[in-house]
Amino acid sequence: MSSPEKNITSVLKETRQFPPSAEFVAQANVPGAERERLVEWAKADPDGFWAEQAKSLHWFKPWDTVLDWSNAPHAKWFVGGRINASDNCLDRHLATRGNKAAIVWEGEPGDSRTLTYQQLHREVCKFANALKALGVGEGDRVTIYMPMIPEAAVAMLACARIGALHSVVFGGFSSEAVADRNNDAKSKLVITADGGWRRGKVVPLKANVDVALDKSPTVEKCIVFNRCNTAVEMKPGRDVWWHDVMADESADCPAEPFDSEHPLFILYTSGSTGKPKGVLHTTGGYLLGASLTHKWVFDIKEDDVYWCTADVGWITGHSYIVYGPLCNGSTVVMYEGAPNQPREDRFWEIIAKYRVTIFYTAPTAIRAFIKWGDHHPQAHDLSSLRVLGSVGEPINPQAWMWYHTVIGSGRCPIVDTWWQTETGAIMIAPLPGAVATKPGSATKPLPGIQAEVVDKQGHPVPANAGGFLVVKRPWPSMMRTIYGDDERYKATYWSHYPGVYFTADGARIDEDGYIWVMGRVDDVLNVSGHRLSTMEVESALVHHPKVAEAAVVGRPDDLKGEGIVCFVTLKQGVSPTDELKAELKAHVVHDIGALARPDDVRFTEALPKTRSGKIMRRFLRDIAAGRQSTGDATTLEDLNVLAKLREDDE
Ligand code: WT7
Repeated sequence: MSSPEKNITSVLKETRQFPPSAEFVAQANVPGAERERLVEWAKADPDGFWAEQAKSLHWFKPWDTVLDWSNAPHAKWFVGGRINASDNCLDRHLATRGNKAAIVWEGEPGDSRTLTYQQLHREVCKFANALKALGVGEGDRVTIYMPMIPEAAVAMLACARIGALHSVVFGGFSSEAVADRNNDAKSKLVITADGGWRRGKVVPLKANVDVALDKSPTVEKCIVFNRCNTAVEMKPGRDVWWHDVMADESADCPAEPFDSEHPLFILYTSGSTGKPKGVLHTTGGYLLGASLTHKWVFDIKEDDVYWCTADVGWITGHSYIVYGPLCNGSTVVMYEGAPNQPREDRFWEIIAKYRVTIFYTAPTAIRAFIKWGDHHPQAHDLSSLRVLGSVGEPINPQAWMWYHTVIGSGRCPIVDTWWQTETGAIMIAPLPGAVATKPGSATKPLPGIQAEVVDKQGHPVPANAGGFLVVKRPWPSMMRTIYGDDERYKATYWSHYPGVYFTADGARIDEDGYIWVMGRVDDVLNVSGHRLSTMEVESALVHHPKVAEAAVVGRPDDLKGEGIVCFVTLKQGVSPTDELKAELKAHVVHDIGALARPDDVRFTEALPKTRSGKIMRRFLRDIAAGRQSTGDATTLEDLNVLAKLREDDE
């Protein structure tokens, strides 16, 4: 265990630098001088810069205007252009990469499948025709609630092909959460599976959907993929099997040219209120952001074997399992299950088995690997690796160094990538052949991204002072709105500073211009890289008949980044028992999903409030942290800065 003093020292004096090796630079997609050129070009002529980058996509019809910001903050990119995301991810590759592996999939029980670009194209075309036959068309919303199997990508790309918007819901969410999202998006159809494998058990996805559909009046049909051969109920007239609707479908389904601004998908994410936001992304700009950053940040080459361990239910899965890599014609590894099934070396076994060259995972996973022991990675041949990525939360220098030495043998550049569901694509990250890395810093904004750290008034902060991370110019993959709620979109992201995008992250910038993101300054928690709102958990708690009031805060957690602590007052006459604590935890899981399981429930007579009646969250955060603060994952220094940045919340 490290002492707090040691942590403060390690962060304030974190001066280690890791420049890329000469060998890496020599083969890099973007070496240092090229990065400088791109950065300057994008500053001098942003429209010209983005127009040139967008030529990497296949357009049925070129655009007339690069950016229309006249209806700010609703951007339009590549106005007048016609494009199809599915065409860019599939058809475009058939002539040159038809027999190249697109998806190399490994199921948790050990089964595996490879789909070439040709095969993936065929599946997507057939499934797109099946969707059409079930009445799905341009502009309709489709909920996808699937395990990590190739069919999840097939479903997404089939929607894109016919212009339906997908709304992927992470398989760890509860039936309540699925119903909420169905209703907000007014989904017409749900695509699911009987179940998916996780830690040797079947997650009952279809059973969850059944409950959700009782409360989802807009949903007419449900397509079920048979993954686990478990018994499910099929409601006549509503539920159909994937293999049945595919059986006689033609594989001929030309990709339709859509407007560049045609909505591609909705992805729900947590904000500071109880109701998740439907982040809306559109086609041309999003696809450019995902594919360009994938090429740049991971230094993608034709024969790379690329593995991102995220779930397609999150934006990381959308941009860096499906759209970015497939648009670039990469070979993508996809794994269904848990990292410790059957043993704690499963990831390293997969890397060795498929000779993975690029590996992209989350700090919370890295901290678990450290705990499980070096002997697991050391038992496998990891020599194929050449770039290592990190995403989802700040990576603590200790975890960074372990990743660098134990997994990368000191040889692989580490790309710590900062971005959000809302940004669509990576915004701040080292280009691995161009920027020397510092453990714990996402380094510098990518070319074309004008990210800055500012004070309350919007002025750039001096070196190493804490401030708010903002983005000063629109970028192609930015969200366009919150589905059905333009006002909330404006208020949440564009009202803090006029014309400037507010990220809700606290950060500092050092004397070399490196950005150190510390964490959220709003009521969003980051639990194992999963984003949750305190208010969402509170609203679940107060729905329990025995609860009077609840306040939820995060506390530093060495493994998960943040843990969930609930302060609860009970209705009169209710006894504060341990059984009730367990019951409340189960209740939150039922309402939201296992990812929201509280780490601690504390009964209290009253909640501390200001005179105006606002809950004093800072005070509760201090109490919650006090009990367990080794401060290993989040440094005390960072916590102090964040507390200051949040000071207006009490
Ligand atoms: C929040 C966004 C898009 C990636 C997956 C999470 C935190 C993400 C980093 C990083 C420090 C990070 C931020 C951000 N975050 N990556 N490399 N360093 N913090 O997407 O669920 O939309 O969450 O995750 O706090 O605001 P998300």
